[in-house]
Amino acid sequence: MTVALIWAQGNDRVIGRDNTIPWRVPEDARHFRERTTGHPVVMGRRTWDSLPDRFRPLPNRMNVVLTTDESWTAEGAVVAHDLTDALRRAVAADPELTVVMGGAQIYAAAMPSADLLIVTEIDVDVPGGDAFAPEIDPSVWQPDDLGQWTTSEKGPRYRFCDYRRIGR
Ligand SMILES: NC(=O)c1ccc[n+]([C@@H]2O[C@H](COP(=O)([O-])OP(=O)(O)OC[C@H]3O[C@@H](n4cnc5c(N)ncnc54)[C@H](OP(=O)(O)O)[C@@H]3O)[C@@H](O)[C@H]2O)c1
Repeated sequence: MTVALIWAQGNDRVIGRDNTIPWRVPEDARHFRERTTGHPVVMGRRTWDSLPDRFRPLPNRMNVVLTTDESWTAEGAVVAHDLTDALRRAVAADPELTVVMGGAQIYAAAMPSADLLIVTEIDVDVPGGDAFAPEIDPSVWQPDDLGQWTTSEKGPRYRFCDYRRIGR
């Protein structure tokens, strides 16, 4: 069983601003789709809210949404009220791979449960960034597959990097 975290970060580990992702890199959107399709995804309620209506629920994936609000529901979302329950439901649906897809609160909470980090580094400065990826401690995580820097059709340079937890 693998719990993976997937995120794209700009410079200084920025992942969001004003509850949106402050860049457009279609290659990364495709990568996200390829790495998550067919597996449950776990996200915070704010990340669910940030998805455009037409993308919710993300298709061909069980969408598990974490909220503290006992009355919250959304069509196509499996609601969970704590991370343990969210991961239990996801793993029950797919014992192979569960992918935690943010945002900052959920990454921070799920980091200790993760075995794999699927990170896109995007060479972009985001003034006013207000959501951040966790730090990747090199004594805990080793690069498994460090991609080449490539220029997006939309301009920014990006690279894909997988990290595996050391010794688990
Ligand atoms: N670049 C990327 O790869 C990427 C990926 C995903 C998201 N993002 C960005 O990240 C930002 C959102 O991140 P965020 O940290 O503000 O929000 P978030 O992590 O998406 O969601 C936070 C919400 O999740 C619920 N929650 C958190 N911990 C919980 C727990 N232990 N038990 C139950 N519910 C819990 C709460 O919902 P309630 O308030 O309803 O209780 C909380 O307000 C946005 O800017 C988004 O665009 C970026």
